[in-house]
Amino acid sequence: MKEHIVITGASGLVGRALLSKYLAQGCPVIALCRKPPILTGPDPASHPLLFWHWADVSLPRLGLDPVTYAEICAKTQLVFHLAARTDFKDATAASYLPVNLAGVEHALALAQEAKAPLHHVSTAFVCGDWSNEFREIDLDLGQHFRNGYEESKFLGESFLHGAMAAPSSVPITIHRPGIVVERNPSAGSGKTFGPFLFLDAVARLRDSAEAKGNTTLPVLRVQGNRQAHLPLIFDDAVADALVRLAAQPESGGQVFQLVAPQPVSNELLEDAFNEAFGQPAARFAGDEEFSHQPANPLEALLARKTTPYAAYLDLSVRFTRRNLNSLAGAKMLPTPTRAELTRAFQAFLAARSQRKAP
Ligand SMILES: NC(=O)c1ccc[n+]([C@@H]2O[C@H](COP(=O)([O-])OP(=O)(O)OC[C@H]3O[C@@H](n4cnc5c(N)ncnc54)[C@H](OP(=O)(O)O)[C@@H]3O)[C@@H](O)[C@H]2O)c1
Repeated sequence: MKEHIVITGASGLVGRALLSKYLAQGCPVIALCRKPPILTGPDPASHPLLFWHWADVSLPRLGLDPVTYAEICAKTQLVFHLAARTDFKDATAASYLPVNLAGVEHALALAQEAKAPLHHVSTAFVCGDWSNEFREIDLDLGQHFRNGYEESKFLGESFLHGAMAAPSSVPITIHRPGIVVERNPSAGSGKTFGPFLFLDAVARLRDSAEAKGNTTLPVLRVQGNRQAHLPLIFDDAVADALVRLAAQPESGGQVFQLVAPQPVSNELLEDAFNEAFGQPAARFAGDEEFSHQPANPLEALLARKTTPYAAYLDLSVRFTRRNLNSLAGAKMLPTPTRAELTRAFQAFLAARSQRKAP
């Protein structure tokens, strides 16, 4: 019986949340990624409904042998394609294309072979540096991209729009999440894009100052606009939305921007950040302030550690969520509150200090 859900990228931040939702519903899941997904709980490695196969999406048939590939296709009812290279190391798309474009082509081939709908997880940042309203129907508005990741995700999504127009295609749905924040982060979350990276960088500077006997570190300034905002959403809420939308056949052929009704202001983010530290630790400051008072050595170090992400601290783009509202309701994907963000940040700092403890 075709009852399995395939998830490429199931070992990643979003994949783990999606995997957990389906397993909790009693659905068997086939995880396709290079490392086995680690689940939380008493027996993190295994679950009777989880079937992991080593797979590399950059390869035809995802690198699976023909027999395994055919067996997977025979039992798959739905394909979620999440696997992607998500770092911001390279400025242009070329080095990302084997995963973020060819990987999309291979995931579509798998869905076609399985005759199963494809749910592709793109990103809201296919908008690049577009600074006004960005709608579900928008894609190529002549925008520029901040890095090769954004550009490659744009190319991967563009390829699928071509495939969606073909009459023989399986149903294809495109999801564009904003910036995903783990509600229950681990110490390792400091390596992922988003607020934990900044928390980790500031915590490191505070640790090393403390180790040198300096307990009164000044508040560090981060170059950014307090009036700007970020499209933050929690990982479990994204997974809820994906599961809900995938359960509705009408989602086929549509684009969903998985963003909260309101973005999170940088001001609120700063407050939650400092509350998690239990004292003022960092604050946003604009270009003008930095030109009057240049960065001190610690601030310069912080800026270096967070360079690829600096471009996201002055956002004015607004993403519409009309398709999400009409198919899943206005309550789906709520705006993270200050208290929720503070709790997640505190949990990250606690996990981080636990890892450090001898
Ligand atoms: N996190 C966000 O804020 C965010 C926002 C918008 C959109 N998205 C999109 O959501 C999706 C998941 O993102 P994420 O944050 O969960 O990313 P992530 O934590 O970096 O995980 C990436 C996943 O892709 C897999 N992967 C990478 N290269 C692969 C390859 N060659 N073959 C097979 N699997 C490969 C990784 O698995 P292995 O290393 O085990 O192979 C991992 O499971 C991506 O498509 C991303 O563009 C994420």
